[in-house]
Amino acid sequence: MVKLWRCQICGDPYVGDEPPANCPFCGAHRKYIFEARGLNVDFNVQLNEKDRANSEHTLEVEISNAAFYFCAADKTDDPEGKPLFKALGKVEAEHASIWRKILKLQTLPQKKEECNARNKENLEESHRREARAIDFYRTAATDASNPRVKQIFTALIEVETDHIKLSEERLK
Ligand SMILES: [Fe+2]
Ligand SMILES: [Fe+2]
Ligand SMILES: [Zn+2]
Repeated sequence: MVKLWRCQICGDPYVGDEPPANCPFCGAHRKYIFEARGLNVDFNVQLNEKDRANSEHTLEVEISNAAFYFCAADKTDDPEGKPLFKALGKVEAEHASIWRKILKLQTLPQKKEECNARNKENLEESHRREARAIDFYRTAATDASNPRVKQIFTALIEVETDHIKLSEERLK
């Protein structure tokens, strides 16, 4: 029977018979997807200085990574690379919007990034960016005072790890 599902990480809803294996918007794993009815998704969190600084840095990382992926989707010379980078760009843009809500910003700052025509170089850059993000999110999750901030960082480590696997498989 069709139901309304909702992701506890990004808050976005999804209509379907079954909960998706990954949130179609932010990529969070199924354990974070629940029936929408009665689910509380909270972005109104108290940030101490450290959590705020980490959230602000992460917002910049996600905006930069989204811009890189959209550039790569446009420029890459590989027909399979285009949808791959487009999918990753959309997920990173959704991650940016999670931090925008946490930081209570009205709009997302815009950013332009360089990318390459050669698909392999974009895959290598993707790998570097995802690895850097994971490193930072691990520290930020460990340091987090606010449980909701910790939950989001923890969920996003899994998502960025999925992204690393995609580039690793293609760089073999
Ligand atoms: Fe991300
Ligand atoms: Fe990613
Ligand atoms: Zn989500």
